[in-house]
Amino acid sequence: MAAQITVNGDRFVEMISERRIKAAVRRLAKEINRHHRGKTPVFIGILNGSFIFFADLIREITIDCEVDFLKLSSYGDAKISSGEVRLLKDLNCQVEGRDIIIVEDIVDTGLSVEYIRHLIEPQNPRSLKVVTLLFKSDSVKPGTHVDYIGFRIPSDFVIGYGLDYAQRERNLKAIYRLHAKPPRAKAGT
Ligand code: IMP
Repeated sequence: MAAQITVNGDRFVEMISERRIKAAVRRLAKEINRHHRGKTPVFIGILNGSFIFFADLIREITIDCEVDFLKLSSYGDAKISSGEVRLLKDLNCQVEGRDIIIVEDIVDTGLSVEYIRHLIEPQNPRSLKVVTLLFKSDSVKPGTHVDYIGFRIPSDFVIGYGLDYAQRERNLKAIYRLHAKPPRAKAGT
């Protein structure tokens, strides 16, 4: 049976093991290395959620590269998107003429990625790519473009490997999904 944990009274079930995450990180890094041979891209991690994925991905990168970080507002303590994105920390690097690779932990509605594109594109990068470990295919806004995807997942709320629930559980090595509560049986049935 899949491992289970309880957080704030909610039950979560293991969805993606540490072993599968490692394999996906290596696969993504291999593709990025191949596509950026001879270049020195700037990897931009989106805080806070991407910090573990970012650290693992960057250590599989074999080409020259630089790093920087953007911090965006997240879900706060909730399990669904507020539909609003705010910039909490801007970039320190020069974007113009550079090959930029945005590193996201998860794309849900796609609003954050859209926000980042609108922030970076006017600064004239040479190229702009987005890599995400998780991609919620059913909730993402049509037209949201992501270049490298680790796993396509359903719209369930997930935690672990950098992803939080009210700031907790980022340190879990695997990714867990919220276990849907079975509908309550009607009286008399
Ligand atoms: P989007 O803007 O709706 O695509 O959401 C992106 C951000 O929402 C991510 O970088 C996460 O911080 C947060 N997020 C989306 N889905 C989840 C989830 O299932 N668990 C935890 N955080 C999530």
